[in-house]
Amino acid sequence: MRTPPISTKSRRQGTDGLDLVRVLAERVVGQPHAMAQIVPYVQMHRAGLGPEGRPAGVFLLLGPTGTGKTRTVEVLADVLHGNERQVLKIDCGEFQMEHEVAKLIGAPPGYLGHRETQPMLTQQKLSAVTSEGCNLSLVLFDEIEKAAPSMTRLLLGMLDKATLRLGDNTTVSFERSLIFLTSNLGAQAMRKELCPDFGYAAMVSSRPHGWARKLEGIAMSAVRRKFSPEFVNRIDAVITYHPLSTEALATIVDQQIALLKRHIETRLAERAFRLEVAACARQFLLKAGTSEEYGARELKRTILRELTQPLAAMVAGGRIEPGDVVHAERPAGRGWIWWSRMTRHPNR
Ligand SMILES: Nc1ncnc2c1ncn2[C@@H]1O[C@H](COP(=O)(O)OP(=O)(O)O)[C@@H](O)[C@H]1O
Ligand SMILES: [Mg+2]
Repeated sequence: MRTPPISTKSRRQGTDGLDLVRVLAERVVGQPHAMAQIVPYVQMHRAGLGPEGRPAGVFLLLGPTGTGKTRTVEVLADVLHGNERQVLKIDCGEFQMEHEVAKLIGAPPGYLGHRETQPMLTQQKLSAVTSEGCNLSLVLFDEIEKAAPSMTRLLLGMLDKATLRLGDNTTVSFERSLIFLTSNLGAQAMRKELCPDFGYAAMVSSRPHGWARKLEGIAMSAVRRKFSPEFVNRIDAVITYHPLSTEALATIVDQQIALLKRHIETRLAERAFRLEVAACARQFLLKAGTSEEYGARELKRTILRELTQPLAAMVAGGRIEPGDVVHAERPAGRGWIWWSRMTRHPNR
């Protein structure tokens, strides 16, 4: 018997998955393996083949600070829903005490505070982070290692049956949700064990044989020490984010400068000017805004301080005219950005 040909539609769905990996990997630099593990769950949901009675996907994202764990969920929200903020985000640092965890589900009727405490995890809140074209909600429990132990108990039920019973006895379904847990669990041990003397940078640039697998092994043993086997079993994929190489960090600097340029064009409209950032200035931003300890986390703040704020002061002071070309350099031996401006006369 001949197998039926693959329809154009299913072929297209196949490429869609690869496209989605590519689009995500362009924006979350240096972590293509993470995207490749997440996207199949999005595809299963889209195809209507997601698991029944379970969340559409449960991921534990591990690895050093500032390597793109939280960013992955924001970028996925932007790609699926057209807005980075279409995520139901629980900052676990705000739930360090047992009574704070109760805020997630709300107090039972009759209890003190029942009326005042709106549960954070309701069906309406889940629906509010979907969009017309996509009914998949993204739920992010960020930095779970910071939460009180009862958070793990609450998650256990949620991850297993995809339902959560609230204080008022109603239930919330997570069958159409991708659940992301992020943690820097094991990151310390990764650094110590892999490169006690030279740090991540040396390891990332030399990439000793099997380094990625070694990182995963360290992360998994940290997970097993922290969480019970039932908890670990309910996770579909434990994904280890890699420390970022200098090239990856340089790409992120370029991305953020491009974003600032777009911002200048769209926000200032007819008052917009052209920004040019020289290679020496980019190098300076790379050095000042990235580190082994915090990855690319400080970069946004550095660009704000070194580029956006001085530019804003120049615009507000009338020192930049619409259509000007504004050039940023960092001459050798100087610890700051050096600005120059060229006026473009429309008739020349
Ligand atoms: N891999 C990456 N690709 C692009 N930007 C990144 C990446 N990693 C970090 N960043 C930048 O650093 C910021 C902090 O990263 P984040 O994803 O919050 O780190 P963490 O891994 O600690 O969750 C992001 O908002 C983004 O601007
Ligand atoms: Mg994070």
